[in-house]
Amino acid sequence: MPGTNRQIRLARRPVGAVVPEDWEHVTEPAAAPGPGMFAGRTRYISLDPAMRGWLDDRPSYLPPVGIGEVMRAGSVIEVTESDHPGYRPGDFVVGTFGVQEYVVSDGKGTLKVDPALAPLPTYLGALGMPGMTAYFGLLDVGALKEGETVVVSGAAGAVGSVAGQIAKAKGCRVIGIAGGPDKCALLTEELGFDAAVDYRAEDVRKALRTHAPDGIDVYFDNVGGEILDAALTRLAMHARVVICGAISQYNNETAVQGPSNYLSLLVRRARMEGFVVFDYAKRYGEAARELAGWIGDGRIKVKEHLVTGALDDFPATLQMLFRGENTGKLVLELS
Ligand SMILES: NC(=O)c1ccc[n+]([C@@H]2O[C@H](COP(=O)([O-])OP(=O)(O)OC[C@H]3O[C@@H](n4cnc5c(N)ncnc54)[C@H](OP(=O)(O)O)[C@@H]3O)[C@@H](O)[C@H]2O)c1
Repeated sequence: MPGTNRQIRLARRPVGAVVPEDWEHVTEPAAAPGPGMFAGRTRYISLDPAMRGWLDDRPSYLPPVGIGEVMRAGSVIEVTESDHPGYRPGDFVVGTFGVQEYVVSDGKGTLKVDPALAPLPTYLGALGMPGMTAYFGLLDVGALKEGETVVVSGAAGAVGSVAGQIAKAKGCRVIGIAGGPDKCALLTEELGFDAAVDYRAEDVRKALRTHAPDGIDVYFDNVGGEILDAALTRLAMHARVVICGAISQYNNETAVQGPSNYLSLLVRRARMEGFVVFDYAKRYGEAARELAGWIGDGRIKVKEHLVTGALDDFPATLQMLFRGENTGKLVLELS
């Protein structure tokens, strides 16, 4: 067991984009595992847009991270010491262990993972929470059917890249929206999307008219704002708009921008529905098996963006999500 544990804690509530002063970098004595517990060293930390929402003190699906608390994060740890019958040194475990170098846990809410079956960061990406989000968002909330036209925003990200590829595996026509020519080329040339729209360079509404001339059956929205509004103008009859997230709005200092084109839901007899992936926790095994099958047969290509560094790099790495600097699942690997 190490003598000390480095942690990133929330120093104050951010206003708008998170700045370095919002965090406190702390070194404290490392705790030893008590009876029935294990301890481990953090290897990979997941960076998620939702983290921005967890910093605000307003009603949500989880309580906010408290001032002075270790920042909430999913991670993969390697067990170093154990008094728990289910965990041995050398085991790898996924859990919400927080942004800290050393972890003590009783194992509740954690999952042992096997690096021989998939690289460890994949358990934070395509086989982890983002993969589950893409799977249930598209198939359950979006009620996707073969042959439909699907549009995914944030398409080159962790959730979007998997969502688009699931839709392809289900025999749909898929259009991805992403920022920049490199991400758009990735979507069509590597990930099998039928078309890509660069929202930074193109008029999204016009591009969707070109690529989805008969309308959109399922719009999987990761970004909200103007892109959601543009997609609403192109809905097919009985379309489903899946509200997965709205990253374009998370750093707003003013009210969230609502969709001014929502009456197309009425005209097109469409529905718009949000969801939280945690509600599907009991069915994660089902999704993981099917996703692992698609990864195994090459129908889903896994995209991960690893930043190798120290725990203190967490704040700067988190900001990459809001600048579009990641392609695929963003993970901080502790060197
Ligand atoms: N409902 C749920 O249970 C659930 C679970 C997990 C995630 N989510 C949501 O899913 C979405 C995607 O999460 P992720 O983990 O997969 O992140 P991600 O897509 O891997 O990373 C975020 C991406 O968002 C794009 N982006 C950033 N600012 C933007 C803006 N102003 N306008 C448009 N695009 C912007 C950037 O890509 P570009 O370069 O293309 O702009 C960036 O790379 C988020 O909204 C997240 O909150 C929801």
